[in-house]
Amino acid sequence: MNNANKADVLLGLQWGDEGKGKIVDVLTPHYKMVARFQGGPNAGHTLVFEGKKYILHTIPSGIFHKGCWNVVGNGVVLDPFIINKELDQLNIPLEELKSSLFVCGKAHLILPSHRLLDAAFENKKGNYKIGSTLKGIGPAYTDKVARTGLRLMDTATDNFMDKYESLKSEHLRLAEGLDYAIDELLLDGLSFPEYEKAWFAGLERLKELPRVQSEVFVNEALDKGARVLAEGAQGTLLDIDFGSYPYVTSSNTITAGACIGLGLAPARIGEVFGVFKAYCTRVGGGPFPTEVHGGDGERLREHGQEYGSTTGRPRRCGWLDLPALKYAVMINGVTRLIMTKADVLNTMEKIKVCIAYNVDGETRDSMPLTGNLESMEPVYKELNGWNRSLDEINTFEELPQELLDYVAVIEDFVKVPVDIISTGADRKQILIRKGAGILQRLSVV
Ligand code: IMP
Repeated sequence: MNNANKADVLLGLQWGDEGKGKIVDVLTPHYKMVARFQGGPNAGHTLVFEGKKYILHTIPSGIFHKGCWNVVGNGVVLDPFIINKELDQLNIPLEELKSSLFVCGKAHLILPSHRLLDAAFENKKGNYKIGSTLKGIGPAYTDKVARTGLRLMDTATDNFMDKYESLKSEHLRLAEGLDYAIDELLLDGLSFPEYEKAWFAGLERLKELPRVQSEVFVNEALDKGARVLAEGAQGTLLDIDFGSYPYVTSSNTITAGACIGLGLAPARIGEVFGVFKAYCTRVGGGPFPTEVHGGDGERLREHGQEYGSTTGRPRRCGWLDLPALKYAVMINGVTRLIMTKADVLNTMEKIKVCIAYNVDGETRDSMPLTGNLESMEPVYKELNGWNRSLDEINTFEELPQELLDYVAVIEDFVKVPVDIISTGADRKQILIRKGAGILQRLSVV
């Protein structure tokens, strides 16, 4: 037993799309295990190396490193159709996957009819759409909590097909009640029956992967001294409890979610790496105080290629929101900050950063939970941009002074150090600060 060995957690501090996949990929050589603990194919973790781009939806971002154990934890929801497509893209032989990808039998399945329901519910919401990725996430987690869901381990039971058909009929009845015409539905370009067929084919492939109980697998690995990195999906401000409800996803995206979604005791959490973008984006509906329409917002979208990696939708863009970041740092217990996409700001003459909000005639420097939030106005501090490319920069310390000043403003506000800055999509475009605490952590891991 090695109780001193703890799992580190890496997660997003904004509304998702912070660039977590790339950072996990960069840190993986220091870990034996990378484990996803929540969410499902609504996620799109992008990795770029050797001139090729890969987008992972369910499979952990450590998959490209030989010898790394990638775990899909009990807290994740699985769509066999989508996993099957991911496995095709990876092109890793099954024999190799058998020693690198492990799926928890307790993980719940996203049925084709969950995706149907997601579409039916969104359709009914009219002007109040959440902007769901329509991957069936909400309905699958709803069935989990209602104790009517199906888990991967259930597929081995004799009456699995009866349970499947019964749940599907229930969903079809619900969709009918919502006046949703199933005939009009296309799921990834397929009709419902076509999708269902491909879903079952995917399930057969999924069954070939090693099945684990993530709580036992992860804790035993820690006991034996293996280093574990828990990989979050989406972001803190999309958390079901602490995000901008109801414009949230249906899982706990925060550090506590790693405990639930992997079976880790709170005392077994070590460092918490919080990833944030040098500005903010949000895809889907819901409040976004620092959103910029047109002008600089448009420039951020174009320079940052801010289009959903799962849905292709244009992302809403705006300035960095420090009170929101500070809230995310608090709720997650973040110990090290990692800033991504700094290069997207390269051509900005002036950079704004939100340091407070005006709400109901009052100025507050923390995230307000009550009052007229719709009319909330951000208060900005304006900084000079660096106006140059970061391509030739090889160390954190050589970064332009204006960028270092920007980092200092962030650190001063949230009181956690920025240890890493990412300056591009490629795994090589990464700068770690000299003497940063994360280096010490990584040297022991
Ligand atoms: P759902 O989780 O697909 O139901 O989507 C709920 C909300 O979370 C919507 O606003 C989505 O756009 C957003 N969302 C879900 N997953 C992600 C993600 O991985 N990145 C960014 N936004 C996401």
